[in-house]
Amino acid sequence: MNKQAIGIFDSGIGGTSIWKEIALAMPNENTIYLADSKYAPYGKRSTDEIISLSIKNTKKLIELNCKIIVVACNTATTNAIKVLREQFDIPFIGIEPAIKPAALNTKTQKVGVLATKGTLSSELFAKTSDLYANKIEVIEVIGTGLVELIEEGKIQTPEMHLLLESYIQPLIEKNIDYLVLGCSHYPYLIPILKKMLPNHIDIIDSGEAVAKQTKVILSKNDLLSANSQQGIHTFFTNGSLHILQEILKKSNIPSISKMLAF
Ligand code: DGL
Repeated sequence: MNKQAIGIFDSGIGGTSIWKEIALAMPNENTIYLADSKYAPYGKRSTDEIISLSIKNTKKLIELNCKIIVVACNTATTNAIKVLREQFDIPFIGIEPAIKPAALNTKTQKVGVLATKGTLSSELFAKTSDLYANKIEVIEVIGTGLVELIEEGKIQTPEMHLLLESYIQPLIEKNIDYLVLGCSHYPYLIPILKKMLPNHIDIIDSGEAVAKQTKVILSKNDLLSANSQQGIHTFFTNGSLHILQEILKKSNIPSISKMLAF
């Protein structure tokens, strides 16, 4: 039984949406989160760049004595998790667009996936689509500019509304009934999306499923903490501390956040 922290990284502050689910599912676990905002967005980068950034983040989390690594970034998971698993002897949990539940439940046979270019063009995404969604129509939309605005702290802005509207309207017109959020930054857009989408379109994100899977793997490896107190949550950013702290306020979970060069 183990007090080492769960390590989590993302290209920036978006993966805090996944961290929150982890903290709620396992309140006694310590967590360490790396926001690699200096190098965001990953979605525009080449596969090689995404792999080397993911290796850099993993090394840092291992140096900080983490017991498991959650890649709280769809773009890093779909492009780099295979290499990470080959190179490091530590359990990894990844996050992928949740196409499977959408494909299983759609009535219109049409689902929308909003994600980064890096995720939508990855081999892993193509494989997952082929496996679970080959009988339905998957309409892919690249959310160009959304991660940048969230990283700048510009969520509730006219700019964000206009950009989102331009991505969502064509999906509504195509008669989707599920919208899959394939980027860990996007759950912060759900309040805006709910106002834009008609009631019959459901939004799916992968946060809860990732937290559940993290718990299962920790338990299988006998790594769950026996700590009876509230876990300690430490955040490091190489970008803006203020913007990280603003997003963390939304969770209502106490945390410590610091600047770090990595
Ligand atoms: N949060 C990352 C993801 O889930 C954002 C990717 C990016 O930095 O472009 O894909």
